[in-house]
Amino acid sequence: MEKTILVTGGLGYIGSHTVLTLINAGYKPIIVDNLCNSQPWILTQLEKLSGQKIKNHAIDCTNFSDLEAVFKNEPIHGVIHFAALKAVNESVHEPLSYYNNNVKSLLNIIELVSKYKVRKLVFSSSCTVYGTADKLPISEDHPIKTAESPYGSTKQMCERIINDCLKAKKIENAVILRYFNPIGAHSSGLIGELPLGIPNNLAPYIMQTAAGIRSSLTIYGNNYNTHDGTCIRDYIHVMDLAEAHVKSIEVMEVSATSHTLNIGTGKGNSVLDVINAFENATGIKLNYTYGERRIGDIEKIYADTNLSEEILKWKSKHSLEEAMRDSWKWQMYLKSK
Ligand code: NAD
Ligand code: UFG
Repeated sequence: MEKTILVTGGLGYIGSHTVLTLINAGYKPIIVDNLCNSQPWILTQLEKLSGQKIKNHAIDCTNFSDLEAVFKNEPIHGVIHFAALKAVNESVHEPLSYYNNNVKSLLNIIELVSKYKVRKLVFSSSCTVYGTADKLPISEDHPIKTAESPYGSTKQMCERIINDCLKAKKIENAVILRYFNPIGAHSSGLIGELPLGIPNNLAPYIMQTAAGIRSSLTIYGNNYNTHDGTCIRDYIHVMDLAEAHVKSIEVMEVSATSHTLNIGTGKGNSVLDVINAFENATGIKLNYTYGERRIGDIEKIYADTNLSEEILKWKSKHSLEEAMRDSWKWQMYLKSK
């Protein structure tokens, strides 16, 4: 029988791609998503792409009794916990919503994982937990500095809570994944990132500019100490990221084990590299100008992926150009809708 994996936030950007990857790997995902940052038609897209019915429980993970009903009624084999609020800027202005949503959801998940003896938990963390890197590529043993935003702080707290509960044997196994910068979309162009309002992140801003929704992209700073003066990040295709979640579940199938792992490509690319990749992949010239540095941006960060490659037997496969091509397909699909 297929093993059931509860995917919280499964209608969101990374969650939706992971749901498909789980199905392809022979698992049965069930979703819990309150739709605070997604839309119901994403479920229809997932059903179209997978050719099967998928259940979404439209409930809030901060509501313990609603969440417990799912654990009572479904034979849950593992949990992948994506559900969280993720806008760094917004978290500075709305810290209580961020602490309440992100921390409370995880506490409820842990309590239920413990009560219902679920032996596999995967948690979405972020390279934001590191802050500015002392050394690049950055490895998992890099010191965790004071978080620069309430959002970053929720990720640090959640990691700590998981590690404390592992030590106290309240939960058996967990894999914490620290994502670098997710980009791209499913190659069908039928699912992708759905930014609300004006995007803060680079890739959706590029797509909306090319689609004529925004007039021009502002590159935040071109006087950094990098090969072309623009900031460097580790951009990872969302399908590679999705695969890393399935591998994390598989690792916990074969041994009782817990890990904290970087999920990136190991390569640093600048803002201009991303724009070039977009132009090469689509043949479209992008309108952009240089502006001031954005407050809080770090100059460069990219992952040391040795540990994740060793533990998960996984490596990112997709190029920056493929990610740009797939995001563009998704943008075109949105335009045609
Ligand atoms: P997303 O907003 O697209 O997806 C999150 C989903 O969770 C949404 O569909 C939303 O409706 C749902 N959700 C939020 N709070 C909920 C709650 N209390 N109960 C039920 N559903 C809830 O975000 P994403 O980009 O897919 O990110 C997924 C996870 O990865 C998040 O934990 C995020 O912090 C983390 N992460 C994202 C990035 C990134 O750049 N996208 C980088 C690092 C880490
Ligand atoms: N950038 C621009 N113009 C834009 C948007 C972004 O030049 O309009 C630049 C930024 O200055 C940065 C790079 O593009 O140099 C990437 O910026 P993003 O906002 O796409 O990504 P960040 O690395 O700043 O932040 C992302 C997520 C955070 C997460 C962090 C670490 O948005 O949620 O990675 O995981 F915390």
